[in-house]
Amino acid sequence: MKKSQLSCFIFILVLTLCFFNSWGALSSILDNTASSEDFIGCLQSNSNNGTSISQLVFTPINSSFLSIWQERVNNLRFIKPSTPKPSVIVTPVDETQIQTALYCTKKHGYEIRIRSGGHDFEGLSSSAAVPFVMLDLFKMKSIDVDVGYKTAWVQAGALLGELYYSISQKTNTLYFPAGICPTVGVGGYMSGGGYGNLVRKYGTAADNVVDVRFMDVNGNILDRKSMGEDLFWALRGGGASSFGIVLAWKLRLVPVPEIVTYFKVNITLEENATDIFYKYQFVAPNIDRDLLIRVGMVSENIGNTSKKTIRMLFEGLYLGKIDALLPLLDKNFPELKVRRELCEEMTMVQSSLVLGEQGFTSSTPTEVLANQSAIVRLWNYKDKSDYVRTQIPKNGLRKIWRKMFENDGSEVMVTYPFGGKMEEYSDTATPYPHRAGVLYQVLKGVNLGDQTSDTTPVSLRRIDWVRGFDKFLEPYVSKNPREAYLNYIDLDLGVGSETYEEASVWGERYWKRDNFKKLIRIKAEVDPENFFRHPQSIPVFSTPLSSL
Ligand SMILES: Cc1cc2nc3c(=O)[nH]c(=O)nc-3n(C[C@H](O)[C@H](O)[C@H](O)COP(=O)(O)OP(=O)(O)OC[C@H]3O[C@@H](n4cnc5c(N)ncnc54)[C@H](O)[C@@H]3O)c2cc1C
Ligand SMILES: *[C@@H]1O[C@H](CO)[C@@H](O)[C@H](O)[C@H]1NC(C)=O
Ligand SMILES: *[C@@H]1O[C@H](CO)[C@@H](O)[C@H](O)[C@H]1NC(C)=O
Ligand SMILES: *[C@@H]1O[C@H](CO)[C@@H](O)[C@H](O)[C@H]1NC(C)=O
Ligand SMILES: *[C@@H]1O[C@H](CO)[C@@H](O)[C@H](O)[C@H]1NC(C)=O
Ligand SMILES: *[C@@H]1O[C@H](CO)[C@@H](O)[C@H](O)[C@H]1NC(C)=O
Ligand SMILES: *[C@@H]1O[C@H](CO)[C@@H](O)[C@H](O)[C@H]1NC(C)=O
Repeated sequence: MKKSQLSCFIFILVLTLCFFNSWGALSSILDNTASSEDFIGCLQSNSNNGTSISQLVFTPINSSFLSIWQERVNNLRFIKPSTPKPSVIVTPVDETQIQTALYCTKKHGYEIRIRSGGHDFEGLSSSAAVPFVMLDLFKMKSIDVDVGYKTAWVQAGALLGELYYSISQKTNTLYFPAGICPTVGVGGYMSGGGYGNLVRKYGTAADNVVDVRFMDVNGNILDRKSMGEDLFWALRGGGASSFGIVLAWKLRLVPVPEIVTYFKVNITLEENATDIFYKYQFVAPNIDRDLLIRVGMVSENIGNTSKKTIRMLFEGLYLGKIDALLPLLDKNFPELKVRRELCEEMTMVQSSLVLGEQGFTSSTPTEVLANQSAIVRLWNYKDKSDYVRTQIPKNGLRKIWRKMFENDGSEVMVTYPFGGKMEEYSDTATPYPHRAGVLYQVLKGVNLGDQTSDTTPVSLRRIDWVRGFDKFLEPYVSKNPREAYLNYIDLDLGVGSETYEEASVWGERYWKRDNFKKLIRIKAEVDPENFFRHPQSIPVFSTPLSSL
């Protein structure tokens, strides 16, 4: 307790010093308050109804400022007294208000941060080290599902669970191939690629985006046709926050059977989990694309002894019935011993519940997917990504388990198999390059949920462990570049962006070289002043692009 108060105090001191350095005088604090008032004045005088827009603006003097700011942050690491907060939060209800907010943000010299679902792994949508306006899109979440045309328009502030629920209200034979956690926002999610339970069958979410409504740095509202194919390409995996503001996506809905099958099997090393996972690496990316099997693993003590083991939870989603699934597994993966009792038939939307949240079952009412307050959405964690392209040998797996034993059971490693549809895209089809040849994606992280903050000695030890684990995995994961997932954004990869060389250290890991260079060229055209930025946004260089 004492230690965390102390470090908080030091942090505030450092911040204050920076503040003074960059603004020069004590009166800068007053200037800042004054400028947020000017900002509100700007909003009012540029709106056709100044009264209604001022009800959508929050500064630290408004009593609900903190609760609005915290509402969509899902990681406690980014909700601390010491976390730098916005100077102003704007919560628009229509596109003209976004135009006005953008205009006034530029006019008054703020940076902007755009927040949809707020699940950014580094808190970049809610915090910044500079004075900024947070554009919070949570009120813009309409979802318009067109079963006839098999499309849906969805506004950026909608959440994946709301999308799934809306589709299921109209049909249970169409769906959208998006992510696992129902509280993730469509704004950020699609723009980083987006994988989920249908990735082997239908590719990433971004692969199934067919149009967009987008606001550029000058406040122009563009669609796919008026923006051109390059920018449309960039927005589907390059991270929209480098380019402008996504207002809405148009999605292609995909066919799913009325009944799908879910199963789960959990085994430990004593039950031959090493052999079974070894085989999984061959089977899961190559089996029928109607089947996806993810694995979650943690270390734990065996009974009440001090001896450790790994517990693996294999969970499958099959786009069909049990009677077709069992022979498929019997033929390809008998070692997993999936029996009929371990399987359950349900609708696709029910599977989103069951696979989406611990504790939800097929009898949980599906409305819950669209009810944020019914879903746990506040955690405390540090996570990192990897992609595996070559099966890890058994002795490598055993070394990995031993490394996991060094932590205290707060770690988790989750593997999501690719293959199937993902093999059909070239690495440059969208900015998301983790395609053909990827066996599975890895998420590894530590849970700090039992700690009061991420700076307790235990938290620091765990974060240190996961960074060490990341280094340790190097021989077993993709190389040249070692690939990383933009939607699991990780500032540990580096933030330098003065030169291409510096930026390539992290940029080529998210996008690979060709895509990263193309993103840089598109950025220079769309936002040459680099207004839309954050520590790992697409950089703008003074060097001409052709010389890159
Ligand atoms: C619990 C949890 C589960 C997850 N599960 C999955 C998963 O199954 N599959 C997967 O692929 N990913 C998953 N992710 C990662 C997720 O895709 C990213 O965190 C994504 O960026 C979240 O989008 P958001 O809108 O919720 O976040 P935000 O924090 O609102 O935004 C993330 C980034 O996108 C930018 N952005 C947001 N909205 C807009 C907009 N309208 N216009 C321009 N830029 C915008 C933000 O500025 C920020 O840079 C998960 C994350 C969490 C925390
Ligand atoms: C402006 O908005 C307020 C609050 O939403 C409303 O009460 C008022 O009638 C509006 N005025 C005009 C001129 O539309
Ligand atoms: C927040 O305070 C400002 C300044 O007093 C005011 O203009 C604005 O209407 C307030 N916001 C809300 C939502 O009440
Ligand atoms: C794993 O299986 C054991 C019994 O074999 C059960 O007690 C435990 O709850 C299961 N764990 C999970 C995460 O399903
Ligand atoms: C583990 O594998 C060994 C050798 O292949 C086998 O004899 C044993 O029955 C297996 N144990 C389980 C629980 O499947
Ligand atoms: C550990 O388990 C053994 C047998 O399962 C039991 O006899 C013993 O009392 C347990 N020890 C503790 C500390 O719970
Ligand atoms: C949402 O969930 C909360 C908490 O479980 C519950 O109290 C509330 O009634 C739910 N709202 C709706 C609209 O179902």
